Amino acid sequence: MKIDVELKNVTKKYGEIVAVDDVSFAVERGQFFSLLGPSGCGKTTTLRMISGFETPTEGEIFIEGKPMTNVPPFKRPTNLVFQNLALFPHMNVFDNIAFGLRIKKVPENEIQKRVKEMLELVRLPGYEKRKISQLSGGEKQRIAIVRALVNRPAVLLLDEPLGPLDLKLREEMIVELKRIKREVGTTFIYVTHDQGEALTMSDKIVVMNKGKVVQIGTPMEIYEKPKSKFVADFIGGTNFFEGKYTDGAVEVDGLGKISIESGAHVSKKTLLLSVKPEKICIGKKLKKVDNIFDGKVTESFYQGRAITYKVLLENDSLITVVAPSYGMERVFGIGEKVKVGWNKEDARVIT
Ligand SMILES: Nc1ncnc2c1ncn2[C@@H]1O[C@H](COP(=O)(O)OP(=O)(O)OP(=O)(O)O)[C@@H](O)[C@H]1O
Ligand SMILES: [Mg+2]
Repeated sequence: MKIDVELKNVTKKYGEIVAVDDVSFAVERGQFFSLLGPSGCGKTTTLRMISGFETPTEGEIFIEGKPMTNVPPFKRPTNLVFQNLALFPHMNVFDNIAFGLRIKKVPENEIQKRVKEMLELVRLPGYEKRKISQLSGGEKQRIAIVRALVNRPAVLLLDEPLGPLDLKLREEMIVELKRIKREVGTTFIYVTHDQGEALTMSDKIVVMNKGKVVQIGTPMEIYEKPKSKFVADFIGGTNFFEGKYTDGAVEVDGLGKISIESGAHVSKKTLLLSVKPEKICIGKKLKKVDNIFDGKVTESFYQGRAITYKVLLENDSLITVVAPSYGMERVFGIGEKVKVGWNKEDARVIT
């Protein structure tokens, strides 16, 4: 595998503020690579250092194997789609897309050809003369993306490009972005604080918190095998149980034993378990489930594809259960007594 972008122990300080703290990761050629984390965790700063708009305080960045220290943004094989798009409002669509090519003095007939190709790529042929103010949010988004792609960068950097769009349009654009990436084969580094977006689009995800990398993995690894309390909770939410390990189970005060898969954690210390809301089944009677507990529904939210319940367990902990609406007989009401359960393999040991 060829590495396109590599960060080695990169730190960025603004005076006392450590925006990015000893970050290292490698992005392979052609990957859809996401930086995911809450607001202020250092995503934009990381992207700006890759593009050359910011300089690392410590550490080094390599693109296509070459160190980027002292290489200005316009000499890097990268292009950045900004958080706020930054299209030129007084120019039409054609001139917006052609802007970078004109700076590079690409011949006019070549510009014509490449802008046309780009508009076809995002399925907006014939939009050349439109003003930016005459475009919908999703159309602006597409123009901003091809304005960066038209320069044929080796690496396209996208900073929350779907931020201002409504949910339906975001979902459409996610599919669109994946298609564009497949067609052009460019490496994408994509910044988002939206775990759903990152899971859907990425080959690889770096989860960041407070300037640090907390986990790197495929969407499935990040979701199914979180290595820390932060990742377990940040990616899709979860339920935590804490207790002492004895004989293949974790004894939780006031609740009882939760059996877990046998593994390396056989020391009798306190263990933290994470059980994802959609791994928990709910019903009046449960069969063939490793762990079953009594509970009482305190809230229910019908959401079309699924129903989310808050269930109070006998140890007074409140858990979240997401039940698919498929095959559901009815919605359990508030105050109703139910059983909740999950299988051994769905209780992940965090610490
Ligand atoms: N020019 C600056 N001067 C001082 N502090 C800064 C500067 N730029 C960013 N920071 C701080 O660095 C941290 C990381 O900022 P950054 O913009 O990288 O976060 P982010 O993950 O992109 O957040 P968001 O999701 O809100 O866009 C924040 O605490 C921010 O306040
Ligand atoms: Mg940001």
